[in-house]
Amino acid sequence: MLAMNYRGPFKVRADHNRPYPEIEHPEDVIVRVLRSCICGSDLHLYHGLVPDTRVGTTFGHEFIGEVVETGSSVETLNVGDRVIVPFNIACGRCAFCKQKLYGNCHEANAQATAVGGVFGYSHTAGGYNGGQAEYARVPYADVGPTKIPDWMDLDDAVLLTDVVPTGYQAAEMGGIMPGDTVVVFGAGPVGIMAAKCSWLFGAGRVIVIDQLDFRLEFVKKYAQCDVYNFKELEDPVVFIKKITDSLGADVCIDAVGCEAAGDTMNTLLGRKLLLQGGSTTALHWAINSVKKGGIVSIVGVYGPTNALVPIGNVVNKGITIRANQCSVKRHLPRLIEHVKNGIINPKEIITHRIPLEEVAEGYHLMSTKLDNCIKPVLIPPSARS
Ligand SMILES: NC(=O)c1ccc[n+]([C@@H]2O[C@H](COP(=O)([O-])OP(=O)(O)OC[C@H]3O[C@@H](n4cnc5c(N)ncnc54)[C@H](O)[C@@H]3O)[C@@H](O)[C@H]2O)c1
Ligand SMILES: [Zn+2]
Ligand SMILES: [Zn+2]
Repeated sequence: MLAMNYRGPFKVRADHNRPYPEIEHPEDVIVRVLRSCICGSDLHLYHGLVPDTRVGTTFGHEFIGEVVETGSSVETLNVGDRVIVPFNIACGRCAFCKQKLYGNCHEANAQATAVGGVFGYSHTAGGYNGGQAEYARVPYADVGPTKIPDWMDLDDAVLLTDVVPTGYQAAEMGGIMPGDTVVVFGAGPVGIMAAKCSWLFGAGRVIVIDQLDFRLEFVKKYAQCDVYNFKELEDPVVFIKKITDSLGADVCIDAVGCEAAGDTMNTLLGRKLLLQGGSTTALHWAINSVKKGGIVSIVGVYGPTNALVPIGNVVNKGITIRANQCSVKRHLPRLIEHVKNGIINPKEIITHRIPLEEVAEGYHLMSTKLDNCIKPVLIPPSARS
């Protein structure tokens, strides 16, 4: 079959000779992929920053598909069902899944005690192949996959596999109180959704910081927020303090993660020399510009190794830090309603619809942010006819 094939940092290709996935366990299903996306998280793999990313694997943790084969003990899905596949692979029955911490499943990723299983996200996240392919194997099929309602556009559905729930959870973890000022770092798909969802929790003011004017212009309209380009600010932290009565924001959200720009030392240590688990610039800014007693919500991804953060400021300011991989399945019922009622229009963030055969161009585009790229969607040949 046709699938994306990772060949090493900055090298991916469309491979027409990948083996079809097979049922490996009675709880698996095989889906024919209808849409998949390239995510900012895929760029960490593409840029060679994620440990144990093996040549020959297929990425893609954001995909929807039609069930074509079911394992013998699958109860809730039938051939022909169209499903949203959450990016987390979760068993549904371990102690963490029982708390709906599907991003922290203890069974789906036997190699790790932190992150659970993630489709197409290196052997650090379980070694599962992903959905940037014509077909994909979906384990624990009665747990994660959620049927796509008949009325739902497939372009909306694919964004419910990650970015919409992740943005929503970023806002939720912020513990936003009515009238709060929320600052979101990052105007990528995740930051855009975090800004949009902050209003749903009662924010009184939402501010987004990035360095790309086209993304800031988009989020300003999409999420009705104030936007600032940090490249035009002498000191983003001082600036945020100034526009928040000198006390700082009530809530800061890090929707940037390990590839943050804006500080030479962090870029050098975290992205070039790999001496820490990523560049922590956005996290520094979040910690230093939130007010005393405020909350910092982190959804940006960082590596498992140590990273320099101003922990003294966290303690002395009495900041609460909340962070996690999104627990996608937990949010789907509510978010499907929000899409139905027009409260969230996910597909408006899609800027590029790319044939799966051109996956390499898709990665290049998302990595360089050329052509005003916000969210590229890959469409396999069989989903185009
Ligand atoms: N926790 C989760 O479950 C989860 C899920 C999806 C994505 N993520 C992570 O969220 C992050 C964002 O994902 P995305 O798809 O939006 O990525 P993206 O690459 O499209 O966007 C990141 C944005 O951050 C901006 N940026 C860089 N440095 C900055 C800084 N110092 N301050 C403010 N903005 C800065 C970039 O210009 C870019 O627009 C990534 O780290 C990704 O891995 C986490
Ligand atoms: Zn993603
Ligand atoms: Zn589990």
